[in-house]
Amino acid sequence: MANMEVSLGALKLKNPVLAASGTFGFGEEYSQLFELQELGAIVVNGLTLEPRPGNPAPRVIETPAGMLNAIGLQNPGLEVFLTKELPRLKKSRAAVIVNIAGDNEEDYVGLARELSKEKGISALELNLSCPNVKRGGILFGTSTGAVERLVKKVRRICKLPLIVKLSPNVTDIAGLARAAENAGADILSLINTIKGMVIDTTEQRPFLGNITGGLSGPAIRPVAVRMVYEVYQAVKIPIIGMGGIINPEDALQFFMAGAAAVAVGTANFVDPLTIPRLISGLHSYLQSRNISGIEKIVGVAHSFGKE
Ligand SMILES: Cc1cc2nc3c(=O)[nH]c(=O)nc-3n(C[C@H](O)[C@H](O)[C@H](O)COP(=O)(O)O)c2cc1C
Repeated sequence: MANMEVSLGALKLKNPVLAASGTFGFGEEYSQLFELQELGAIVVNGLTLEPRPGNPAPRVIETPAGMLNAIGLQNPGLEVFLTKELPRLKKSRAAVIVNIAGDNEEDYVGLARELSKEKGISALELNLSCPNVKRGGILFGTSTGAVERLVKKVRRICKLPLIVKLSPNVTDIAGLARAAENAGADILSLINTIKGMVIDTTEQRPFLGNITGGLSGPAIRPVAVRMVYEVYQAVKIPIIGMGGIINPEDALQFFMAGAAAVAVGTANFVDPLTIPRLISGLHSYLQSRNISGIEKIVGVAHSFGKE
C-alpha cells in the first residue's frame, strides 16, 4: 500500500493535499460534501486581528484559464475565529493551518502570540504576499530585509510550525525564500496570486473596484511550477506548492519540481470535490507504479541532465 502521509519537518499530515487559504472559507460549506478530516489540512481564510469588510465590489472576474480577485482579506477577525470557527473545526477533526495577515509587524506578532496559545492548530502561515491590500502585505513580501525582520519577530514568539507564504510578484523568488529560511521559517508556501488587471471596455474603466487583483488558476501554473523548482534549489526547508492545480497530473508537476505537499485554491470553486478526487488520484498513481510514498518523487525533476 502506498503511504500518503507526509512530514514537513514538525508538521505531520495524513496526505499531501491542502485547501489553499481564501478559497475554502473555514470549511463549513465543504463539510456538507465530505469529511474535512480527509484533507491533508485546511488553510483557513486569511485572518487579521480585527474584522475586515474587504474591498469594494466588483471583487472577482473570470479570466482565460483562471480568475482575478481582489477580495481584500474580508474576514471576521481573531475573536470570532477563536470563539466560533476554531471550535467547529476542532470538532470536525480537520488539520487546521491558520493564515495570518496584518498592516504592520505588530499585527503579525499579536496574532501569532494569541494563536500559539490555542489547541487544535497544526501550523501558522504568514501571508506576506496578498497583492490586494494596500499597506503591510505587499511591502513585507517583496523585500528580503522586510521578510527577514518580520519572520524573525514572529519566530521568536510562535510556538507552532511556521509557514511563510511567498509573493510571486518579485524578480528573485529564491532570494526571498532564503531570507525567510534564514529568519527561521520551518516551511515555505508558494505561490500566492500574480498581480493583474482587467479593463471594462464598455465602461472604459478598470473592472475591479480595487483596480488591480490577483490572478489564480491554471493560467499561473507554469509560473508556479518554475518558482517551486527555483526555490527547491535555494533552500533546505520543505515547500508547499500551489497555483492552478486541478488534476493529479498537475500536482505531480509540483512534487517533481520539489514540493513536499500541494494546495488547491481556485479549482475548489469549479468543483468542490476537487481535493478528495486529487487525493485518491495521487494514491492510484503511486499504487500503479509501485511507489511507496510521495516523498520518493519530490524533486525528481532536478536530476534531469545530471545522470
Ligand atoms: C478568492 C481568493 C482568495 C484568496 N485569499 C487568500 C488569503 O486570504 N491568504 C492567502 O495567503 N492567499 C489567498 N489566496 C491565494 C491562494 O491561497 C493561492 O495561493 C492562489 O490562489 C494560487 O492557487 P490556485 O491557482 O490553486 O488558486 C486567495 C486566492 C483566491 C482565488
